Amino acid sequence: MNNKEFVAKKVFDVIKDDLAMEQVERLLEIPKSAAHGDVAFPTFSLAKIYHKAPQQIASDIAEKMDESSFEKIEVVGPYLNFFMDKKKVSHEVLSTVIEQGAQHGDVNLGNNSNVPIDMSSPNIAKPISMGHLRSTVIGNSIALILQKVGYNPIKINHLGDWGTQFGKLIIAYKKWGTEEEVRNDPIGELLRLYVKFHEEAEDDSSLEEEGRAAFRELENDNQEAVSLWKWFRSESLKEFDKIYDMLGITFDSYKGEAFYEDKMDEIVELLEEKHLLKEDQGAEIVDLSAYDLNPALIKKRDGGTLYITRDMAAALYRKRTYDFAKSLYVVGNEQSYHFKQLKAALKEMGYDWSDDMVHIPFGLITKDGKKLSTRKGQIVLLEEVLNDAIQSAQDQIAEKNPDLENKEQVARQVGVGAVIFHDLKNDRLNTFDFTLDEVVRFEGETGPYVQYTYARAMSILRKANFNLDQNKNYALDDEGSWEIVKFIQGYPKMILEAADKYEPSVVAKHAIKLAQAFNKYYGNTRILAEDDQQEARLALVYVVTVLLKEDLRLLGLEAPERM
Ligand code: ARG
Repeated sequence: MNNKEFVAKKVFDVIKDDLAMEQVERLLEIPKSAAHGDVAFPTFSLAKIYHKAPQQIASDIAEKMDESSFEKIEVVGPYLNFFMDKKKVSHEVLSTVIEQGAQHGDVNLGNNSNVPIDMSSPNIAKPISMGHLRSTVIGNSIALILQKVGYNPIKINHLGDWGTQFGKLIIAYKKWGTEEEVRNDPIGELLRLYVKFHEEAEDDSSLEEEGRAAFRELENDNQEAVSLWKWFRSESLKEFDKIYDMLGITFDSYKGEAFYEDKMDEIVELLEEKHLLKEDQGAEIVDLSAYDLNPALIKKRDGGTLYITRDMAAALYRKRTYDFAKSLYVVGNEQSYHFKQLKAALKEMGYDWSDDMVHIPFGLITKDGKKLSTRKGQIVLLEEVLNDAIQSAQDQIAEKNPDLENKEQVARQVGVGAVIFHDLKNDRLNTFDFTLDEVVRFEGETGPYVQYTYARAMSILRKANFNLDQNKNYALDDEGSWEIVKFIQGYPKMILEAADKYEPSVVAKHAIKLAQAFNKYYGNTRILAEDDQQEARLALVYVVTVLLKEDLRLLGLEAPERM
């Protein structure tokens, strides 16, 4: 129970004939200044009920309250200010976290039900973009958060490995590519070919048709086309895996769009059976006007299928395979319309479970204010970003802590952590402009700052030779500790909020605030002073390390013990 809930219950006991518990809770305020207590109850709105002045009401209530469960209760004009019993509350908070450890905040909302998470999903033969990075790290963190609240997340990399672009690539490779060049630098070379195709196609419109024809060959199992495609795919995956390894992120499935190639006929048949397919200028569409949406294009004039058709097959496959409680798609907000159409088309087919499909959009990353386009070859190479961040961490370690053990490993944990945290710390829908300096910055609200705070707290515990004693009654009543104790109280609620909103930034912001609160505490309080609360202060430091580490884990960051 947090302080507000505690006060609400006590106030309610006194005025339960006149106000409901929820009303009491809604009226309670957290005062800005500690001088006004931990929780305040304003009585203005009770004047109508009691036909008395608010001041009078406040003192009447105060008289009836059992003051012994508080440090004190003060009446200031129309307000009742409650000062919590710090020793009692801090004891409760500390012993709970000490007992539960990293499991603090765990709840079973999901009964271990399956939640497939469509995430990362880069397109083969192209570099992983900043957008795919966002999807990867946001998806990974959501998976960890959902696990904490009792779901079984299934991380699916829905690779973009099918579609007309592979026809184009096959043509470009045959015209301008060589095996050797692709082997040397697979993604670089395939990207060069892809960009060249689009440049050439501007002057030569027949190229587009050639590309489409080549894709049809691929769809029809033409051997040469298939083996080129397989080769492009495996070379690309090798490159992607390098980045996933650096990030420390794994997947449960790599079933991409191509996997659904033989599962789309069923979708088309089902649509036909339900009389949902309409012809429109030679193409087949599903009318979605009942949902205020444009029709979904299911089959092109040339019989080719589309992105949405593959997504319909994938959704059905996931329902059958996982019987999901929810099915999530962590994909940029530029695809919001697509997911609206996808859900609506499935709903039209009578699949009510499409209501459980959730698109989790995120904002675009721009560079110098402009959208990045792979077609034009404007990309930020992720591997370079990660390597730059690691290098920058290495430089800082060399400068500040040259004798550190496992320097390489720590530099990797910190550099990669910087990139991941930078991506997760803002509401996911915010757009941001990419600058390398920003990403590898270690001061301010960054991953390395949180990691550094964790390492600092760990070093205090080491220095003090702190040994946790589960049976000790740790309790604190100084103002400095109280600030942190109050903050820590909100941990389980914070986890619920992050899970409910699918919002890793809730955890990231919590980590930053906890780190800031701890650093302030460290600056103002002599933690190691030899008085009778030293052990309890160390227990508080310990609890901070448990929660900082858990926050970092939920975001997909490691927590080095020394930095
Ligand atoms: N490969 C797509 C892209 O890069 C993202 C796929 C998202 N997932 C999905 N099921 N549509 O734009």
